[in-house]
Amino acid sequence: MVQRPAPFPTARFRRMRSSAALRGLMRETTLTVNDLIWPVFVTEGDDAETPIASMPGVARLTVDRVVKAAEEAESLGIPAICLFPYVEPALKTPGCELAWDEGNLSNRATRAIKAAVPEIAVMTDVALDPYNANGHDGIVRDGVIVNDETVEALVRMALAQAEAGADIMGPSDMMDGRIGAMRAALEAAGHVNVTILSYAAKYASAFYGPFRDAVGASGALKGDKKTYQMDPGNSDEALRLVARDLDEGADMVMVKPGMPYLDIVRRVKDCFGVPTYAYQVSGEYAMLKQAGLNGWVDGDKVMLESLMAFKRAGCDGILTYFAPDAARALKSGG
Ligand code: PBG
Repeated sequence: MVQRPAPFPTARFRRMRSSAALRGLMRETTLTVNDLIWPVFVTEGDDAETPIASMPGVARLTVDRVVKAAEEAESLGIPAICLFPYVEPALKTPGCELAWDEGNLSNRATRAIKAAVPEIAVMTDVALDPYNANGHDGIVRDGVIVNDETVEALVRMALAQAEAGADIMGPSDMMDGRIGAMRAALEAAGHVNVTILSYAAKYASAFYGPFRDAVGASGALKGDKKTYQMDPGNSDEALRLVARDLDEGADMVMVKPGMPYLDIVRRVKDCFGVPTYAYQVSGEYAMLKQAGLNGWVDGDKVMLESLMAFKRAGCDGILTYFAPDAARALKSGG
């Protein structure tokens, strides 16, 4: 319930905006470095990085550089880093076997980060697309993305990630039943404190384009992801998916993409009151970042304003490629 204001001039809203002190006292939402999860792309090699053309300022990092990024995250106070591997096309297979190899890029990066900066939470992506010869998040049989067989593969993948030391599993695949299967397998293997941040409401979105370049899935992907990711026209379905994933053992839930779907965040937070996150995805980042670089908008200001919008909508945290820039801007008084 919102109080009906007294008539003018008894109520003058500008009174409370008349100084920085009063504006600070009245501010309902704040953005802090604790709200940030930093997604990074990992690639093979030593002490090198490959810029991603469609994501200005973002590069694929070799494992040693990912460790440096984790050290930077720690010094900035960013609580978590999220790993996405770039897999060479020659290593992608229809069975996605590399996804649960203990020595794959993601698992090596997790081990290296945990050895160097154990305080940083490592989140890993539980989805087959970087490893899949056809770019899909699931195993494809006769042109169909098969659900249950994919879930078995995802469970193997999650166990290998937990074994490597990952703290947060991020299943981004949108198969049915994967949260319950992963939770049961993690408990059975003794990984009782590994958390699951379910990509519960993930939409079939064109805003993922630059990410698919970054992980090398753009060339491989045949068709679209509409049989497993959500229809952008739906909102009630998101609530049913969140309820389902919580029942199956998710500790946290995510809405994705971010800014175009903040109405969904608000509904999820109001309905469930659980730790709720959103992903400011690659296409959102690219638009804001490039507009800033072009001088069309003030890059730092739109960055912080966009992240504040996530908080105001009800997010407890945001996955954002801006994480280190935002942390620096917040430190300097943003
Ligand atoms: C796929 C995955 C995607 C993203 C994270 N995990 C893309 C997709 O579903 O095609 C997108 C992230 C971004 O755009 O920044 N498992």
